[in-house]
Amino acid sequence: MVLLGIRSLFTAALLALSVRGKLPDGRAHLNVPPHSPPPLPPGPPPTGPVTHVNGSVLADISTVYYLDIPVDHNDASLGTFSTRYWVNYEYYEPGGPIIFMNMGEVNAEGYTHYITNSTINGMIAQQESGLLIIMEHRFYGESNPFPNLNEDSLWYLTIEQAIQDNVYFARNVKLDVDIRYVPRGALTAFQKVAEPDVFYIHYGSSAVIQTQVDFHEYFTPIRQNMPANCSADVQAVIAYIDEVFMGTNETAMDEIKETFGYDSSYTNYDVAGSLRNNVWAWQSLQPYTQSDGGELTFYEFCDALEVKGGEVSGPEGWGVDYALPAWGAYFSGVSLAKICGDVDLRAECVKGTAEEPADHPVDDAGRAWTWQTCTQFGWGQIGAPEGEPTIVSRLTTVETDVVDYCAYYFPENFPDYGLPRTNETNARYGGWTMQGERMIFGNGNNDTWREASMSAQQTDIPVSTVSQPIFLGNGFHCSEVIARASVDPTVAQIQQQILEIVGGWLGDWDAYSEERRRKRET
Ligand SMILES: *[C@@H]1O[C@H](CO)[C@@H](O)[C@H](O)[C@H]1NC(C)=O
Ligand SMILES: *[C@@H]1O[C@H](CO)[C@@H](O)[C@H](O)[C@H]1NC(C)=O
Ligand SMILES: *[C@@H]1O[C@H](CO)[C@@H](O)[C@H](O)[C@H]1NC(C)=O
Ligand SMILES: *[C@@H]1O[C@H](CO)[C@@H](O)[C@H](O)[C@H]1NC(C)=O
Ligand SMILES: *[C@@H]1O[C@H](CO)[C@@H](O)[C@H](O)[C@H]1NC(C)=O
Ligand SMILES: *[C@@H]1O[C@H](CO)[C@@H](O)[C@H](O)[C@H]1NC(C)=O
Repeated sequence: MVLLGIRSLFTAALLALSVRGKLPDGRAHLNVPPHSPPPLPPGPPPTGPVTHVNGSVLADISTVYYLDIPVDHNDASLGTFSTRYWVNYEYYEPGGPIIFMNMGEVNAEGYTHYITNSTINGMIAQQESGLLIIMEHRFYGESNPFPNLNEDSLWYLTIEQAIQDNVYFARNVKLDVDIRYVPRGALTAFQKVAEPDVFYIHYGSSAVIQTQVDFHEYFTPIRQNMPANCSADVQAVIAYIDEVFMGTNETAMDEIKETFGYDSSYTNYDVAGSLRNNVWAWQSLQPYTQSDGGELTFYEFCDALEVKGGEVSGPEGWGVDYALPAWGAYFSGVSLAKICGDVDLRAECVKGTAEEPADHPVDDAGRAWTWQTCTQFGWGQIGAPEGEPTIVSRLTTVETDVVDYCAYYFPENFPDYGLPRTNETNARYGGWTMQGERMIFGNGNNDTWREASMSAQQTDIPVSTVSQPIFLGNGFHCSEVIARASVDPTVAQIQQQILEIVGGWLGDWDAYSEERRRKRET
């Protein structure tokens, strides 16, 4: 049965790929920002029966449960849809808390790690004798209010509806205990503002709470923390390319295009924008990536620029004369083939395909996430404004990467909808000014999303307090959620602090203490 399910899913994915001309990584074309799923610990997702701490054998951890949740929390007439969730009782003892996580922008099926102690969720459950639950976010994976991701359907994909899904789940799921705790992400933080009392503790890891249309700061942590020589050379090459591409010398433009494996039919934007793929590779790094032999594309890229005949450049880099052809050779010889898969598809790889299916299939996280960015989040990953250093071309702008991009994906509603309503989102949830009781933020210095988090360097508004502690370590995206990321001592310290704080807050909670007392007496 399980095999059959997997196989039919796989076929659907292949079918979608051939119909829609998508890249091997699921993006529509190579100027689409990569998706930022929650990190996964090394190894396959756990499956199979679980043994309770008391010795009894429990259900298979990959068992899928379903709860019917209203399609529209403001209009019951639209009925309900089936939402998937997964549960692990392994550490649970009567009176223990429920650790609930909405998995956010992914098909949650491969994420059963998040109900084991390979993640902080499970570490907390183990410490507190808690019950673990993950729920799939509406419009992701197989939890869909409608059988498609058409634009008319996507209007029901909002922060507000997703918060109410969590609330509805907490109030209606058939379990013998109250829900008291919910970790991860911006949704958690937004929920703390909108529905402060449903869950007892909120914890957002790498929570992007400040929405903004122009998010050139996405690249700031990369520029700051990548090897200095590589940062210097990337900036120098981009500055040169921008100068030529914004000028009038077409011969020089064509020379650059050729250097990167393009002919003159590609636009300056196509070419300059696509070089972002090499720096986007930073996003998938974790503290354990290197030691565990994970995907090190980013460092491979820097080596291509900085190692010349066995010699490594100093911190200032080699300069444009060497770095430009070196980057060109790496991009045209390695990156394009890897990104595009089939090189014959290069035209489609760069431009995407205009041919759109009448019904957009479900389980397309990229499309659902793009809808959220176009409507409520923004976060255009573009070049920095003139006067600020940049590692990506200034030809990538709000116009190209938000306005044109949203119209490309959602032509029925854009550009009429206008820019993403980030000001409304920030006004409603507070952005950097949000304040909540028993709300934890965990962030990473090397996280590309740092500048939209409570630890952004571009603002000094957030202040860490006892009731709203903000932790910043040297981790990457959501690092402290992964037990294995403790190889970085700053991440290990944050994990320890979070375990202590959660333990303390739970101990302070009247209802919890009473149940615990009762438990001790029996
Ligand atoms: C062990 O714990 C599980 C989960 O809470 C419970 O269902 C089961 O009855 C317990 N078994 C024993 C022998 O205590
Ligand atoms: C994690 O849980 C497993 C049982 O599933 C246990 O054997 C292991 O010791 C736990 N790991 C830690 C670090 O406590
Ligand atoms: C220079 O580049 C090499 C190769 O990527 C890297 O290993 C090294 O750390 C860099 N050195 C400096 C000072 O940036
Ligand atoms: C245009 O660029 C080419 C190639 O870099 C260069 O040889 C030529 O001198 C430039 N022309 C002008 C008018 O600057
Ligand atoms: C959001 O607010 C800022 C500051 O008040 C303003 O400059 C900007 O134009 C607004 N953005 C939109 C999309 O309305
Ligand atoms: C992450 O950032 C810190 C500085 O904030 C730096 O010391 C550390 O080396 C970075 N980690 C990696 C792998 O680049």
